[in-house]
Amino acid sequence: MSMLDELVARLRHNVAVGLPDQAEQPMKIPASSYGDPDRFDAEMREIFARVPLLVALACEVPNPGDYIAYDIAGRPLVVIRGDDGVVRTFLDICRHRGAKVTDATCGTARRLMCPYHSWSYDTTGKLVGVPGQDSFGEIGAIGLVELPSEVRAGAVFATLDADGEIDLDGWLDGLDESLDALRLDEFHAYRTPTYIDSPNWKLAADGYLDGYHIGYLHRNSIGARAITNRNTYDFFGPHVRIGFAAKGIDEHDPVESPKPYGEIMSLVHYVFPNVSISGGHHDTLMLSRLLPGPTVGESRTLQFQFYRQPIEGDLVEQAEAKRRTYEAVVRDEDCATIFDIGNALDAVGDGHFVFGRNEPANQHLHTTIEQFTNGEHHRWSDQSLVTAQSGASAARSEA
Ligand code: FES
Ligand SMILES: [Fe+2]
Repeated sequence: MSMLDELVARLRHNVAVGLPDQAEQPMKIPASSYGDPDRFDAEMREIFARVPLLVALACEVPNPGDYIAYDIAGRPLVVIRGDDGVVRTFLDICRHRGAKVTDATCGTARRLMCPYHSWSYDTTGKLVGVPGQDSFGEIGAIGLVELPSEVRAGAVFATLDADGEIDLDGWLDGLDESLDALRLDEFHAYRTPTYIDSPNWKLAADGYLDGYHIGYLHRNSIGARAITNRNTYDFFGPHVRIGFAAKGIDEHDPVESPKPYGEIMSLVHYVFPNVSISGGHHDTLMLSRLLPGPTVGESRTLQFQFYRQPIEGDLVEQAEAKRRTYEAVVRDEDCATIFDIGNALDAVGDGHFVFGRNEPANQHLHTTIEQFTNGEHHRWSDQSLVTAQSGASAARSEA
């Protein structure tokens, strides 16, 4: 059975028994863990500054000179496809005196030109132009600082530590096989980015990992067709795949009356610590990057829409309409809600928040973060937080 058929079978089972895949126990966490600046520093240092981050999809920069640039955890990045076809990730920091060498979130450039004094870099990051070069003596063969990176399953991973190493096999722990099924290389990015402000990054991450809220918070928008709280959850090391059932899945019969996957289910791959890939097994996909800001109370989401076909003709209008729809949903439903939570953290004081057994991905996130910030970077792959108490995964674990 294909991966998608198996997920459909599990979702149908969960709908039939009236439960999602479940964690063993509910879990409490101190509300103060969100707003604690020391914890935030540890999260940036032990997680964002050292693990392989999914910095882009290769299809976001399809042609030489295409780049995408954004700040994450206090570092400006630029991911650019070189004239040699190789995708590289650099610190977006000029080697003269530190200005950014890009002037947009995405663009195409033959040269990256620093606006301050016009030092310029080619698409492989090499410094190729210095006005008044005689005043600088011997500069040597320098370039933008390149970060270790590797492309896997159509996704570009990089570490923010220029001296770090990438071990994607260990890090992805099988997630790449699930991403392979999405055929990410076939997508075309609608290269109009959307930025949405959010408060604390973990409050925003909680939303991306939450299969429980879809039919409630989003009941009049993207959740109108969902059968809420019947999700499948699968863990790949620190990463999570969430399956969502849509109305009509119970009428699907794989043999007698098959329905297209896109009508009866959807998937979210959450690539730890900060990227949500929503959809992908049919014609569209939305990539949301959650970008922690300079302080514990600030983050931003950077979203792109993708299509299986080239985005031209009527599809441009459709893509723009969809971009605005999702911008409104995330801003007015998700982020408005989590801003309220962020504003209430002080009032909650030393109280706790609770994650039910039906919120295993959130439990997994917070447990993983706790392990990393305690310095246990080797522990994540041993985690098995979910015990399949219901749904087809119970049958799976017995099989
Ligand atoms: S800071 Fe870039 S050219 Fe001076
Ligand atoms: Fe949401």
